[in-house]
Amino acid sequence: MRKFNIKGKEPYEVFVGEKIIFEIGELIKQRLNFCCKVVLVCDELVFKIYGDIVKKSLEEAGFLVLIFSLKGEEKSKNFENLTRVYSFLFKNNVKRKDLILALGGGMVGDFAGFCAATYLRGIKFVNIPTTLLAQVDSSIGGKTAVNLKFGKNLVGVIKSPFLVVCDVFFLKTLSFRMFNAGVSEIIKMAAIFSKELFKILVKEKISNVLEDVIAKSIEIKKDVVEKDEFEKNVRMKLNFGHTVGHALEKALNFEIHHGEAVAVGMCFITKQSSKLGITNFKSYLKLKALLEKYSLPVETDVNFNLIFENIMADKKIFGDEINFCVMKKIGEGEIMSLPILKFKDFLKG
Ligand SMILES: NC(=O)c1ccc[n+]([C@@H]2O[C@H](COP(=O)([O-])OP(=O)(O)OC[C@H]3O[C@@H](n4cnc5c(N)ncnc54)[C@H](O)[C@@H]3O)[C@@H](O)[C@H]2O)c1
Ligand SMILES: [Zn+2]
Repeated sequence: MRKFNIKGKEPYEVFVGEKIIFEIGELIKQRLNFCCKVVLVCDELVFKIYGDIVKKSLEEAGFLVLIFSLKGEEKSKNFENLTRVYSFLFKNNVKRKDLILALGGGMVGDFAGFCAATYLRGIKFVNIPTTLLAQVDSSIGGKTAVNLKFGKNLVGVIKSPFLVVCDVFFLKTLSFRMFNAGVSEIIKMAAIFSKELFKILVKEKISNVLEDVIAKSIEIKKDVVEKDEFEKNVRMKLNFGHTVGHALEKALNFEIHHGEAVAVGMCFITKQSSKLGITNFKSYLKLKALLEKYSLPVETDVNFNLIFENIMADKKIFGDEINFCVMKKIGEGEIMSLPILKFKDFLKG
């Protein structure tokens, strides 16, 4: 088992290992020094498979467990469910000393984190991410959010959990596609921050080095969010592939996994940057080959104008300029800034 301490406004611990969840009750108790109510905000399907293990461990440690479950789909991250959960917390007399524990993928983590950040102006939060994407990416960095009908993640805050447990035990039941969608975010981090991780992903069978790869990805993200918790500079690099990726997700009505859309986005932007000599062509081919190794899509037939229209509606565009990340070579990302029309030309090549 490995442990990371994430520094920041509210520091927290992240554990990575196998079968840690059997000890989750004790792990939390050691940190709180008292027992309280634990509201498990969970993904319905995940609860069916793993709920008993988590509940039993918490109850054995002396916690009173309450369950609030959500359908495992992006639509669940909405205001209606938020109102339902606030009522649930109130009716169950949940107080500031109690805690919310997220058990599920990034959807549940974002939603439960937002509840914990806002109920009673903030109660304690523990995150147990159960997808690869959530373990390497969304559970680190404190971003929480819910969706509006106008778009994803439009309302949110930064709220740090006090504990994150990334247990590879969960990953065995992920579908092939969901697993690879998580690998896409790992490839992203390798492409812009770590040549060494990129090499491992190329050479090894990921299942043989899974815990190491997750730990390495968390280390990279830790380094980035510690330097720039509020996304003013270096954290923007983590959006590599996301400008086009988000636009594609929207164009396809979210019937593509986030990680898959990011894979297309990384390839798209890198193909264009290699045409301009910003990226060397060999690096572009290496990135494309690695994405293909994990059966990730590298292109799309969605109409370019639709993608561009969606990019223009992105919440991360301010004024007339757009910031985006390019991969100069494997392991090295750079933020570029272009006027919108120049960016359109850049994308069109
Ligand atoms: N906060 C951040 O920094 C951040 C970063 C990236 C993504 N996100 C958010 O994360 C969400 C996507 O998260 P995700 O990719 O983890 O998907 P998800 O949470 O939507 O889960 C996807 C599917 O996997 C199932 N599932 C989860 N764990 C499982 C397991 N162990 N075994 C079998 N099935 C399992 C769920 O039931 C669901 O059907 C989006 O809402 C996105 O906005 C947040
Ligand atoms: Zn992402």
